[in-house]
Amino acid sequence: MNVDIVSEDAIIGRSLDDIEKYGQKGTAYIGKVVMSSGERPVLGRRILCDVARPHVVLICGKRGGGKSYTMAVFIEEFARLPLELKKRISVIVIDTVGIFWSLKIPNKLNVSDIEKWGLRAEETRVRVLVPKGKKDFLIKKGVPVDDAFTIKVSDLDETEWLALFRLSWKDPEGVLLSRSIEKVKETLGTYYGIEDIIKAVRTDEEADKITKHAVINRLKVAQSWGLLEKEGTPIKEIAKAGEVTIIDISTYRTTVGMESTGEMIVGLLGKKLFEERMLYRKEEETKLIQGKERESEMPIVWLFVDEAHMFMPNDRPSIALEVLLEWIRIGRQPGLSLVLATQRTEKLHSDAISQCDIFISHRMTARSDIAAVAQLRPSYMHQDFDKYYEEMPKAKGFALILDDNSEKIWLVKIRPRLSWDAGVTANAFRK
Ligand SMILES: Nc1ncnc2c1ncn2[C@@H]1O[C@H](COP(=O)(O)OP(=O)(O)O)[C@@H](O)[C@H]1O
Ligand SMILES: [Mg+2]
Repeated sequence: MNVDIVSEDAIIGRSLDDIEKYGQKGTAYIGKVVMSSGERPVLGRRILCDVARPHVVLICGKRGGGKSYTMAVFIEEFARLPLELKKRISVIVIDTVGIFWSLKIPNKLNVSDIEKWGLRAEETRVRVLVPKGKKDFLIKKGVPVDDAFTIKVSDLDETEWLALFRLSWKDPEGVLLSRSIEKVKETLGTYYGIEDIIKAVRTDEEADKITKHAVINRLKVAQSWGLLEKEGTPIKEIAKAGEVTIIDISTYRTTVGMESTGEMIVGLLGKKLFEERMLYRKEEETKLIQGKERESEMPIVWLFVDEAHMFMPNDRPSIALEVLLEWIRIGRQPGLSLVLATQRTEKLHSDAISQCDIFISHRMTARSDIAAVAQLRPSYMHQDFDKYYEEMPKAKGFALILDDNSEKIWLVKIRPRLSWDAGVTANAFRK
């Protein structure tokens, strides 16, 4: 007799073939299906998301809707994968606000809620890396820093220097800066610091005094970031297999003259990871052909980028944009996954919306942001979508999930975090 066996859990992002082959292995438990909404929503099956294969996940929704929280839930799941899988994956989280370090601390607020979900509040093993020059400052503020990182000065090419200072080829300052870097490269190769570039600017024979002064000033500001050094942190130190690494760049968030610093970090990191994975992908393939296990030193990478519109804007160039677009377009082949979050779909580069294969939408209210999605994902925007939106409970943590793999829409409640939420909206009450 032919029977349909309805599995207890729903798996998204995974083909039927893979479900048959791997079952629930390599999935992340992110929430439960909402069976009926209203005042007291009834929750049904668990939603598991494939994390063994590469994906591009986009999480959107209005401010305070639960995007960073959902990201944290994914991160907790990565940290809890069975070792055999975990050791092949490296998770890197770009933290623009300085909230993800609290994954290290068990949740103390929602303990009973967590238990209702059949889970247990506990800490998550993550590594927190901060820019070298900001380490002491952040430790003093109570951030549990594990290590510092720096970027190798020679990894920045001229274009990136110009973008970093928001200069163009036409500016006298831009011209002087490019020429000076050219000179330094000729004499010192790939081992030089900002002080060497300053020296080259000083001794330049064509530029006038004012221009020199302006460029030197900018370079001195860059020195004060405590980020750029002759020897940078090797990419293998950052992308460690089996580890979740939080890159806290929150100290660059609001300071004038540092707007592009975060972009540079994401851009250079993304570029390096891409190059390394392309290389190792070949090695893995060769091993597979020789009948050996598919394994190489360089893990596959999941990169989390919160507030992605800052790095992938649709209305201006950004050092990170081209790199992340590469990840989106061809990253799946070398094993590069992205999890992006944004409250401004309208401001986000359209490829991030049209090319993601798992789309998670918390409540959205701005018409223009909804329109940006509707325009780029028309196949989903029939009446069902609107209906789901209407039915979405007002409480936090609800979301629509559009899964390209099964071409299904799910209304879900994201599971509670096991770890402490440092993003809790400040309020005037003490309790
Ligand atoms: N799944 C959830 N369960 C319970 N509370 C949630 C959930 N998602 C979000 N919240 C609450 O809403 C707050 C805001 O969420 P957050 O992820 O910081 O919003 P966003 O990143 O979209 O601005 C969180 O601090 C938390 O208190
Ligand atoms: Mg957030």
